[in-house]
Amino acid sequence: MRNIAYIMLTSALAAPLCAAQTAAAIIHAADDGLAFTPPMGWYPWNTFGQEPQNEKLIRETVDALVASGMKDAGYAYVGPDEGICFTRGTDGKLTSNLKRYPSGLRGLGDSIHRKGLKYALYTDAGVRTCSGDMPGTKDHEYVDMQAFAEWRADYVKIDWCNTQGQDIVKTYKELHDAQHAAARPIVHSLCSWGDGEPWKWAASLGHLWRTASDICGPGSADWALAMKLTSINEKLYPWAGPGHWNDPDMLIVGMPGLSDAQNRTFFSLWCMMAAPLMAGNDLRGMTPATIQILTNQEAIAVNQDPLGIQGHIIRSVGNVDVWAAKPLFDGSRALLLFNHGSAAEMVEIKPGELDLKLQPEVTVRDLWHHANMPSSATTNGIFSFKINPNDVGFFRISNTPNFPLPPIIVADTYQIALRTEGAAAQSLTGVLSLVNKGSAELPLWKIRPDLPPWLSVSVTQAGKSQTITTTVTTAGLKMGSYHAVVRLDNTEPVSGRPMSAVYYDIDLEVAADVAGENAGVSP
Ligand code: GLA
Repeated sequence: MRNIAYIMLTSALAAPLCAAQTAAAIIHAADDGLAFTPPMGWYPWNTFGQEPQNEKLIRETVDALVASGMKDAGYAYVGPDEGICFTRGTDGKLTSNLKRYPSGLRGLGDSIHRKGLKYALYTDAGVRTCSGDMPGTKDHEYVDMQAFAEWRADYVKIDWCNTQGQDIVKTYKELHDAQHAAARPIVHSLCSWGDGEPWKWAASLGHLWRTASDICGPGSADWALAMKLTSINEKLYPWAGPGHWNDPDMLIVGMPGLSDAQNRTFFSLWCMMAAPLMAGNDLRGMTPATIQILTNQEAIAVNQDPLGIQGHIIRSVGNVDVWAAKPLFDGSRALLLFNHGSAAEMVEIKPGELDLKLQPEVTVRDLWHHANMPSSATTNGIFSFKINPNDVGFFRISNTPNFPLPPIIVADTYQIALRTEGAAAQSLTGVLSLVNKGSAELPLWKIRPDLPPWLSVSVTQAGKSQTITTTVTTAGLKMGSYHAVVRLDNTEPVSGRPMSAVYYDIDLEVAADVAGENAGVSP
């Protein structure tokens, strides 16, 4: 699926990475169309560690993610982290741990796809995973990536434990090649905690890379550590962009011990850094405040902005960090003011700091209060903000009064399953709907033309909702199980930027040989 340009990687393998290498010089992997905005989802590790990760937890979490409104806000990738979910059989192949995941890893993935969510799995580049309780991919790269494809994973996090003596670039390149050979589009999340400076070489091999250590031990949020990771990740802003993201680790929002102001602050920082938004809390009993923070559409709009620019600190004044340099797709600017101190502070911002030529109609939107600020905030063309202690002000500044929300695509399912009985040729259809929760009506989703002969796909539109109709014609098919992955592409109309591709699975069960056209096509 991915057709990667290897120019940068080849030179990285031939010679050690040199300091002169710049973010701009790197060629990015883009052909798979994945993760053009930072991935959003949920992983269990921050709260649960290995215990009690199991199918029940994942299924309950999926239900909570849907019921809480997080799915509608854009969270999509869900699945076990290091949850003892597979072992290696004597034949060398991975096999599901049916004690913990009774439906098997394919069954779990199907149930996630049928809820209109995407399936995330975990592995390790070494001989064993971090706990030592699961096999790593070392020397099994191709067979393991094949297993992830067969389980229908859409996202795989690849850890870096127990890799003594392995060359990091070669290892992740081999895993990328193996994933490519398995021919399933998968978001590839590198997890070397900053080891090997992946931001310098991983954009051609994957979609995101951890920039530092774990953000906490399972079950206990660590505010000081989260701020340390923020500081490391902030400096790496030149390396991030559509399809290739700095990952300062999963969210701690909603974990025990954090105040609402800390949750709000943390979420704002991750949005401003265009960091992946993989929630790490227990979704099954969230407070209204946690839900409101995790689903703040106006903050998520900054994170999911189609330009994909990572904001950073442009100056610090007193105890306040001024985060800016994040132009948004409609020409507006994001501004985050973080007051670390124990007293309220006034901060003045000049339009030049936002790289914005002010028009008379300037609008300042407060992204946490969901209100436009009074015009006195812009006296003499200077913006003044009062920021509470240990809290943030998060704003969007524009020369127009309206702020469009970028696309958030929500599907009702990512799996169409069809079955035919008997030997007569049939035509069967299955539908899925893609709704854009953003402001704009999108152009029609474009179908990739490389479909198998038994399959056709059409798209119809009703406002922000589009219906994808899959039609299967069984004439001439042999008995058996057929599978295809359909890819749909689109363009965000305000910025003209390509959007992340949508992929879905079609399973067709043909119960008997069918005569007719396409005779002889077999699974
Ligand atoms: C590493 C990763 C964590 C988690 C654990 C699982 O520490 O960084 O995010 O996946 O492994 O053991």
